[in-house]
Amino acid sequence: MRPLNVLSVTSEIFPIIKTGGLADVAGALPSALAAEGVKVITLVPGYPAVLGTLESSNVVHRYPGLFGGTASLLSGRAGDLDLFVIDAPHLFDRPGSPYLAPDGRDWPDNAQRFAALARAAADIGQGLAPGFVPDVVHAHDWQAGLVPIYLSLAEGPRPATVMTIHNIAFQGVFPPYLLFELGLPASTFTIDGVEYYGQIGFLKAGLQHADRITTVSPTYAKEIQTREGGMGLDGLLRVRAIAVSGILNGVDDKVWDPSADTNLMQTYDRDNIDARIANKEGLQKRLGLSQDPDVMLFGAVSRLSEQKGLDLVLASLSRLLAGGAQLALLGSGERGLEESFRTASIVHPGQVGCFFGYDEGLAHLIQGGSDALLVPSRFEPCGLTQLCAMRYGSVPIVSRVGGLADTVIDANEMAVAAGAATGFQFGPVAVSPLTDAIDRAKALWRDRQAWRRLQDNGMSADVSWRRPAKQYADLYRSCLPT
Ligand code: ADP
Ligand code: GLC
Repeated sequence: MRPLNVLSVTSEIFPIIKTGGLADVAGALPSALAAEGVKVITLVPGYPAVLGTLESSNVVHRYPGLFGGTASLLSGRAGDLDLFVIDAPHLFDRPGSPYLAPDGRDWPDNAQRFAALARAAADIGQGLAPGFVPDVVHAHDWQAGLVPIYLSLAEGPRPATVMTIHNIAFQGVFPPYLLFELGLPASTFTIDGVEYYGQIGFLKAGLQHADRITTVSPTYAKEIQTREGGMGLDGLLRVRAIAVSGILNGVDDKVWDPSADTNLMQTYDRDNIDARIANKEGLQKRLGLSQDPDVMLFGAVSRLSEQKGLDLVLASLSRLLAGGAQLALLGSGERGLEESFRTASIVHPGQVGCFFGYDEGLAHLIQGGSDALLVPSRFEPCGLTQLCAMRYGSVPIVSRVGGLADTVIDANEMAVAAGAATGFQFGPVAVSPLTDAIDRAKALWRDRQAWRRLQDNGMSADVSWRRPAKQYADLYRSCLPT
């Protein structure tokens, strides 16, 4: 098969800069795709963290003016990632979050910043870097949403475009007066163009103009075509239904490998799951939980936001903790939720332990030391923590939505009897179904053999990028001219 060149366009990439699962996906896909004969170079903004890790870079192009300042397009490597980087200090030389100012609000020039990302992507798509002419440009989320429209406006040959939705809740909506500044002609401000309820919609524009649209699970691909799940874009997605598909995420099995994870007290694999007990002890110690191997330990690793449904865990807490069970939470986000969990840890000392902030090592220890992992999301495009949990022998308890519904096999009686179950699903997303699932999990946990089977099934499931990478490679090939 002919090797393919793909330009991946993303606003974050693991291990350099990450706020969520998008970074994990962008960081892991390139090497998984290499095995499918797809050469990926990723275009990212030149945040300080990116420029700081870039090795042996060279200048591909100089822009005399890119949205308000001079800029250079660099190419280089960072670890095993091949990158194009937009070195534009006036847009990206800022500390902290890629999206938010220190006061927690969006940077006021996010439209220009991510239009610059899309502009450079479209230029590379049209041959700006002669050593790498992409067959396909793969745009991730609203930050790369203008790529397909910039390319559709360009003269001459252009690559195919794929637009992936990682979370339709974030759409990149900006005021209409920016149209010309963004390099968009008046003719694009229509319902078939960038216009979105009187504003400019970056994601909307991407979905309108991309050759193919993907999202990160088959169930979410259906949900976003409904009024409830589409958050205003369902109509467009229904019109484009033939172009829409869902490809599940995987996890990077080198980053998430319990047999070689230096964040754990004790590494282990399927054949010595009992060794996890040292991680449970370590986790209890780290979060100030009572040192007791014989109580069930629930974990959660999550952004603290409405989406993730952790308020339902708070509402279920007395049932969850009944009988001495424990909760270990790692989260960051909304202040109110943080406060409520902090209070819970004071009210239930030794039973609720929290760490607020971002901590990669602790995320791994929770996966390696908890008995079950809670993911009670209101919606979840794919979700990665339930996949990590399976790989680490922590049994996921998930709401039956999006990618959670597609990746966890509920321990109903038949699935347990057939030896197929990998976790617990509940629905609808509300307190009492969650509490029922927690009770079911607690009951099965007491049956050590049955629980071991759940862990073993999860650990032997293939949650790697191998299958998804093949699906992406097939998709890329299918959208090329024959
Ligand atoms: P989302 O992208 O919606 O936040 P995902 O489940 O797709 O959800 O991905 C979340 C990723 O971020 C996972 O790799 C998870 O381990 C990680 N993560 C979430 N919260 C934290 C945190 N507070 N500290 C460290 N890692 C976190
Ligand atoms: C988004 C979604 C999450 C998904 C991740 C990576 O952040 O919320 O469900 O796993 O993107 O695709």
